[in-house]
Parts: sequence; C-alpha cells; structure tokens
Amino acid sequence: MTFSPASARSRTTVLSPRLEALLRDHLGKDAVRLEPDTIGVAGPELIDRVLAARRATEIERPTFKPLHGRSITRTEASSVTRTIGDDVREALKAPLPPNIDLSGPWPLTGHLFLRDLILGRDPRRLTILMSRNLELTPLLTWLVISAAAALPGGPRPTDDLTELGRLAAKATGYQNRRYALGMYRRAAAPVCFTISTLVANALWLGSPFDDSTPNRNIIFESLRLLPPSWNILRRASPEYPPLDPRIGPDDDILVLPLLSHRDPALWDSPNDFRPERWDHLDPDNTPGYLPFGHSSERCWGRHMVMPLAELLLDRIREAGLTVDPGQRTAKVPLLGLLGVSEVRVRTGPGRR
Ligand code: HEM
Repeated sequence: MTFSPASARSRTTVLSPRLEALLRDHLGKDAVRLEPDTIGVAGPELIDRVLAARRATEIERPTFKPLHGRSITRTEASSVTRTIGDDVREALKAPLPPNIDLSGPWPLTGHLFLRDLILGRDPRRLTILMSRNLELTPLLTWLVISAAAALPGGPRPTDDLTELGRLAAKATGYQNRRYALGMYRRAAAPVCFTISTLVANALWLGSPFDDSTPNRNIIFESLRLLPPSWNILRRASPEYPPLDPRIGPDDDILVLPLLSHRDPALWDSPNDFRPERWDHLDPDNTPGYLPFGHSSERCWGRHMVMPLAELLLDRIREAGLTVDPGQRTAKVPLLGLLGVSEVRVRTGPGRR
C-alpha cells in the first residue's frame, strides 16, 4: 500500500473558519439547516434525489450563467464547450517545449502554463482575460472585457487564432464583441483556473508522489479531499420539499461534496490522502463522490480535465519537483473554487 510521504503528512491545511466550521459541526449529517432559507445536503441518497430531481437552471450553472444579463442557451454553451475542447485537443497534439519550468508558486504557475499552452496563439487582448487578478471582482472583469471590446484593431477571423479566439474575432459591433469576449473568458477560465487549482491541491496534499502511484489516483483523491466545486447550488423549487420533510418550499439547497467526500460512514481514514483507494473504486459510481456533479448531468468539460491535469503531473514528477519543505501550512480561503491559495513548488532533494 502507498501512503502519502511523511513530508506531506506533516503539512497543515488551514481551511477558512467557515469551511472548518462546516466540517466540525456537520460532518456525517445528511441534511442540515445552514441559514433560515438554506439547507445543506451531504448524505449520498438525498444528494442523489436532489440532483436527479431536475436540471440546473441557467442561474445555477457554474460556467454558463447569464452574461451580464444575457442568457446563454444550452445549445450555445455546448457549442462553446466543444470549441475549447477542440483547442485543448489541438494543443495536446504538438510536442511540449523542452525547457518548461513548472517550479514556482502554484496555482499561478500552472495557470500561466495552461494559458500559454492552449491560448498561446491568441493576442494579448484575448489572453489578458485569463488574468488571475480578474478573479477579484466580476465588475473588474466586466470593465476589462468592455474596454477590450471598445478598443479598435481587435483580432480578425483570418488571423492565426485558437478556435475560441476566432469565435470572439467574428463578433461585430460593440455589444456583440463584448458578449463574445465574455464567452471567451467563461469557456477558457475553467481550463486555466480550475485545473491549475486541482493540481496545486494534489501537490500540497501528496507530493512527492511514490513512483508507482498513477496520476489518475492522485487526481481523484485530491478531488475528494479538496473538491474545487465544493458546493453545488440549487435554488428553491417545487421538486424539493417532497424529497425530504426538512426541506421547505422556500429553501435553497446547497449540496456539499466537501462534507460527503469526508463522511466517515463512506470512507476509510476519510481525512488521509490515500490515492491507492482508487485502485478499487469507480469514481463514476462511488456514493457521495461527485467532484464533477451528478451522474444525470456531469461536468461537460470533464474530458479536458484528466489529460491536462495528468500532463502537468507528469511534467512535475519527471522534473523531480515537489512542495518546498520549508512550507508547512497552506490556506484554503472561502471562495467559489476550493483550493490552496499558494503552494511553493521547487526541485526536490537530490535533483538539480
Ligand atoms: C477540475 C476541473 C473541474 C471541476 C471540478 C468541474 C466541476 C463541475 C461541476 C461540479 C459541475 C456541475 C454543476 C452543477 O450541477 O450545478 C460542472 C458543470 C459544468 N462544467 Fe465543469 N468542472 C471542471 C472543469 C471544467 C472545464 C475545463 C470546463 C470547460 C469549459 C467545464 C465546463 C462545465 C460546463 C459547461 C458545465 C455544465 C453547466 C454549466 O456550468 O454551464 N468544467 N463542472
């Protein structure tokens, strides 16, 4: 059996007080009242019934919520997801530049690598939309998008662009350009932000990894302990009260993978990073495990996550990179995307 190395076990993950309180007060409960109008749901059966009851509405969707008040149809969302998927496939065909250095602060380093790998052909006016500073407020993001749409001399469809970039370049008129740039960010953000966060979490939880541990197990185990999508929101709706007497007609529901992924009734040694548990578990069919949402409508971008996360882990492991032994703690802030805020990654002992 493989256990996480002593160096990883001696690191402390400091969850934000709210997340810490959720785990401390509610672990193992199937439903809990979080607010006067919000029920948290963490039991696998109730999660299943809630998420199977209906599809996410447009305001509940994590990726393609309305863009500045304009709805994004499912058809368009699905077409844009395919487009970024094509760009990812295209980027993965070419050999990687030989001297990639993935040491440095993560998730930033992974984010910049993915941005350049996938969107590197696009002009700065587009790739600036992947700036991590724009995470700070949606208003700032929208201001940058609006400024980029207003400036003359934008990319033309005939330029050497990604397919996603070409969609943005085809838009004409200020309003359409602004919408198209917003879509560019919406589609590319999960690739750059979420996947780099996932890999940063994995490094923090378990590196240096045993040579015999498959990347796939590392990724599934990291998604269990620090699920980037740690909550899934469903607004109050008539389908829910009949599912459980504790759910009232006006209650919003927060499905909490953060809790179900550590429920002691479902997992052996729930707080330990044990990638080997995935030797015998099916991530698509393990009760209470839903890092990519429910089986009735799993994450549409999931097929991009595994190859890109595995590529990053391969490069990190080949280069002998690991978490700086001097870093003993990492903070996990209360944000929509759950992850360590900064992990210092450097060459491990015995490597130059
Ligand atoms: C580690 C990476 C990722 C995680 C953990 C993740 C997680 C999730 C989860 C939990 C859902 C279901 C939400 C719900 O039912 O309300 C979802 C849906 C979705 N995801 Fe992902 N995702 C990831 C990466 C991506 C990527 C790379 C894309 C590419 C564009 C993507 C696009 C979508 C889309 C389009 C949906 C459907 C609904 C919507 O948001 O419009 N995801 N994802």
